Amino acid sequence: MFKIIDGKEVSSYIKNSVKEKALELKNNGEEITLAVIIVGNDPASRVYVNNKKKACEYVGFRSLEFALPEETTEEELLSLIDRLNGDDTVNGILCQLPVPKHIDEEKVIDRISPDKDVDGFSKINVGKLWLGEYDLAACTPMGVMELLKYYDIDVCGKNCVIIGRSNIVGKPMAALLLEKNGTVTICHSRTKNLAEVTSKADILVAAVGRAGFVTADMVKESAVVIDVGINRNAEGKLCGDVDFEAVKEKTSYITPVPGGCGPMTIALLMKNTLIAAEKQKKS
Ligand code: GUN
Repeated sequence: MFKIIDGKEVSSYIKNSVKEKALELKNNGEEITLAVIIVGNDPASRVYVNNKKKACEYVGFRSLEFALPEETTEEELLSLIDRLNGDDTVNGILCQLPVPKHIDEEKVIDRISPDKDVDGFSKINVGKLWLGEYDLAACTPMGVMELLKYYDIDVCGKNCVIIGRSNIVGKPMAALLLEKNGTVTICHSRTKNLAEVTSKADILVAAVGRAGFVTADMVKESAVVIDVGINRNAEGKLCGDVDFEAVKEKTSYITPVPGGCGPMTIALLMKNTLIAAEKQKKS
């Protein structure tokens, strides 16, 4: 019998603990501020940014939104980041990705001060993650680790297979599972005999971006299946990378979409913002 991993429950638990600490700080006259930058009119990015602002409100952070037009130059965006880096009242900065094509995404990510990089995407924070000295690591894979912890799913010695090698999910996911002594394999579009590799996974993480990509034949009996995908199917319905109905019976634990990893990303963003603020206070 499989168990559905409830990302809403775990994300509420995390947000509530952040809320409690934020309230303590507020009672000492300290407010935590997250600056969110969005460039252009991508509708999905707009939804994500609104959800991030709502979460800030919930936990008691101040959020500042900088909605810049599509034609914003790279220089203008970088100078906004410089200004926010130098503003002591701003604890966390994130620029919603993707940015328009005429702007170099890597330059933007690396302009954000590592101490305020609540996405954990900067070279310094990625390097720290791989050295096992991380404090600000990518929110989605950190959210997956929190789900595993909450459900007492031990990673040590397990075969962990990740499908997808993005900088946002696949690669940091590998680092975090490795840190917990998992035996980690990253698969991608050039992987040969993909189903053969994935069907050896005790823990399978799908981060492909294709609806229904993971089918039952790709999954080992009693595996833990974590679906990071957020896609729309032919009917426009939100769905993950895993063919949930076909796969669920084979698993021991499985995350649904929606209600699995999605809410965790935002909860971990709140947690990272708190961590950033606490670190800044000490330095
Ligand atoms: N676009 C898709 N996912 C993310 C994320 O986690 N952070 C940012 N900044 N942009 C994204």
